[in-house]
Amino acid sequence: MTGQTLKFGTIERDPDVRMLTDMEAVIWDKAWYDQAEDRPLYFMYRDLFLDRHDSVVHEYDVRYDITVMPPGTLGREYVKTKGHYHPEAAQGLSFPEIYEVIQGEATYLMQRKAEDGTIDDVRVVDATAGDKVIIPPNYGHITVNTGDRTLKMANWVSRQFGSIYQDIEERRGGAYYLAANGDLVANNNYDDLPKPRRDEPREVPDLRIESETPMYKMIQRPNTLRFLNHPEKFEWLFDDISR
Ligand SMILES: [Fe+2]
Repeated sequence: MTGQTLKFGTIERDPDVRMLTDMEAVIWDKAWYDQAEDRPLYFMYRDLFLDRHDSVVHEYDVRYDITVMPPGTLGREYVKTKGHYHPEAAQGLSFPEIYEVIQGEATYLMQRKAEDGTIDDVRVVDATAGDKVIIPPNYGHITVNTGDRTLKMANWVSRQFGSIYQDIEERRGGAYYLAANGDLVANNNYDDLPKPRRDEPREVPDLRIESETPMYKMIQRPNTLRFLNHPEKFEWLFDDISR
């Protein structure tokens, strides 16, 4: 399977393709990897907008992307994204992000890195079509396709930065691997991991974050996306998440 062109309004976008070999550093099951043939794992369609939103996405400095991930396993674990952190936006807070599942089933794995480099919180959120998941500041994040069909998901994020992959590569993946039997298995390249805690998708009607409202529509009221570039002004939004 190669990535097909995605049409979004008048935009026709070719994907950035994440190949299995791009993921070598973060694959749990090395024995499986060593005998696997390279193949595309997921497709990232970046910077989508309708013509009438061209100026506002640039003015508000935000980007809407869609990621398409066929189902499957990587040996002992489900197919997943590579995982990354974001750089600092302000006052020790990294840029947050918001995801929406458009189709399929996903599990979002989030891990907060404390100032001393240890992981002090791990959150696990299962999401299905319509669900929104906020990645608060300072959380690395990985998306796992736990379903048996293609996962299609969207994200809004700041346009201001590039993601940081190095830390998760050096530790050979996230804090926990999600095994294809559903178990969360601690990655022993991390010390003193907290137990993962389950959390729910998010509903924030004031910001039009609601399961029945497609997330792209946040751009119709662009102030609802300000938290992506100014996390220091939105403690109320993150407080109950990162307690
Ligand atoms: Fe991200």
